[in-house]
Parts: sequence; C-alpha cells; structure tokens
Amino acid sequence: MKYKRKGIVLAGGYGTRLSPITHAKSKQLIPIYDKPMIYYPISTLMLAGINEILLITTPSEKESFKKLLGNGNQWGINIEYAVQDKPGGIAQAFLIAEDFIDKNPVCLILGDNLFHGDKLGEKLTKSSLNYNDAIIFGYKVSDPQRYGVITFDQNKKVIKIEEKPLIAKSPYVVTGIYFYDCDVVNMAKLLKPSKRNELEITDLNNLYLKEKRLKVEILGRGMVWLDTGTFESLYEANTYVHTIQKRQGNIICCPEEIAYRSNWITLNELKFLGKNFMKSEYGKYLLNLE
Ligand code: DAU
Repeated sequence: MKYKRKGIVLAGGYGTRLSPITHAKSKQLIPIYDKPMIYYPISTLMLAGINEILLITTPSEKESFKKLLGNGNQWGINIEYAVQDKPGGIAQAFLIAEDFIDKNPVCLILGDNLFHGDKLGEKLTKSSLNYNDAIIFGYKVSDPQRYGVITFDQNKKVIKIEEKPLIAKSPYVVTGIYFYDCDVVNMAKLLKPSKRNELEITDLNNLYLKEKRLKVEILGRGMVWLDTGTFESLYEANTYVHTIQKRQGNIICCPEEIAYRSNWITLNELKFLGKNFMKSEYGKYLLNLE
C-alpha cells in the first residue's frame, strides 16, 4: 500500500516565556534572523520529502499564517489549517488532525524547532518511509531537565522517557520531530491528561516504547538542533543562522530553494517568487539560485 507523505506543524501555544514579544503575535511568526520562525519546521518537513502539511495554530492567528503561507502551492506543496482552541498538549495534535492523517503514517514537528546539518534531509526521508514503528530523535544537551529526557539501561537500551524531570538521568533529550505509524490517532486516544492537564507527547512515546514500537535515533554532534522558547535560545538561534548564512552565502531553511531542488517548482516559478521579495537579501538570493 502506498501511503501519502504527511506532516503536521504544531504552532499553537501562548508563547508566554517570550512575552511581551508574543503578546500580539504568534511566537512562530516572529523572525529568526531573515525569515519567520515557521519557515524552519516547514522546510524541515519538505527536506524529509513531505508535501502535505497541516498547520495547527491558535484560533486568533490562523489568518496571519494563511496570509503568509497560503495553500502552499507556491512551493509545490499543500498546506491545510486547523486550530487548537487552547494548549491541550502536544499529543492533542493527533486528535485534531485525525481527518487529515486519514490512517496514514505522519510526522509531527514543533513550530519552534530548528534543525540543520549535513545529510539531515536523507536521514529524515529514511525515517518518514518507515511505516512500522514510531521514530524519535535523541540529542545531547547541557540542560536536559528542560526537555523530555531519555533514560538508558547499562546496555544503552532505552527504558523510559521522563518529561522535564528535576534530575535528568542522561544528557540525551527528545527533539521536537516525531515520526509515527498509522496507529498514532488510536494510540493518542488512549492518553489521559497529565498533572498540568495536557496530553503529553512523552506519554505517547512511552506507550509506543512499552509496546516495543519506539525507535530512538541519536542525532550526532555534527547536527544542529535549536529550540527558540526563551529569549536566550531565540537569540542563539538568530545568531546561529546569521553566522552560518554569512559564512556560506547559503540560506538555512529556505522553502523556495527546497521546493526547487526537490523539483516541486520550476526555475521560472522560483524566479517569480524571488521577484516578489526583490528588495530584500532573501529575494535576491532566490533570484540568483540556479
Ligand atoms: O522541543 C522538544 C521538547 O518539546 C521535548 O523534549 C519535550 O518532551 C516536549 O514536551 C516539548 O517540550 P517544550 O517545553 O518545548 O514544550 P512546549 O510546551 O514549549 O511546546 C512546544 C511547542 O509546541 C511550542 O512552540 C508551543 C507548541 N504547543 C505546545 C502545547 C503544549 C502547542 O501548539 N500546543 C500545545 O498544546
């Protein structure tokens, strides 16, 4: 059976840790250097070969996202929209997206996560073509207690994931990109709200783990994973993108370029998109691509 390549970007939440920046604007619409934050997770899905995307936003921000991204056809993809009335947890995304998923495997990416690195697209594409298990990615960080922490036994086998524990049992944490098989909606329906009244993605992953259907792949130190949930991490992400782009002359997470290199749009279509932004460095970059 041929499955569709589907992905969800979760871009709701109140972004309270970034107030007042997020007081009148969704966090995922604020810029990371030269483009809106939402471009980064969308680009990552596109790099994984995913061309059907559901964007979940807050009710008040849906129109702003639509204005920015439209139906995705300009990038040769499809973007649909859904709303999460209030932040009921990351795993709630699968209940909201039940019709969109339509029994296909699906990838979920958090709207504030930035991934960058050599062969990232190949690695993610491989994961997106595995239809039998859930796949999540571990990454070593210096402040694991801020995340879902992966606990290993002596044989390096994953035994549990703990959400923001007071004391982290390992420096490896779960990043904000997750691949699930076609069972994910049924699995999400088994979840009960946590103490903070959310359907936790960590509980979902632990359910898959219990059934021996969870694969944890480690993203090595040559791979970059940044989140942008605090002033400090947002600033670091801006600096990272600026530094690498200036050094290389390549733009990180440019959906137009990915669409062109994936043959989802033609060179003429790319140039047409570039002309819209002709006065910015971003537009000039698109016009110079070949
Ligand atoms: O970034 C990876 C981490 O993401 C994982 O290691 C954790 O296991 C996972 O729980 C999550 O932790 P965060 O503390 O980053 O989750 P946060 O509540 O900040 O939500 C992440 C993004 O998802 C944020 O941009 C807002 C959005 N979100 C979150 C919730 C709970 C929603 O759109 N709706 C929600 O209900």
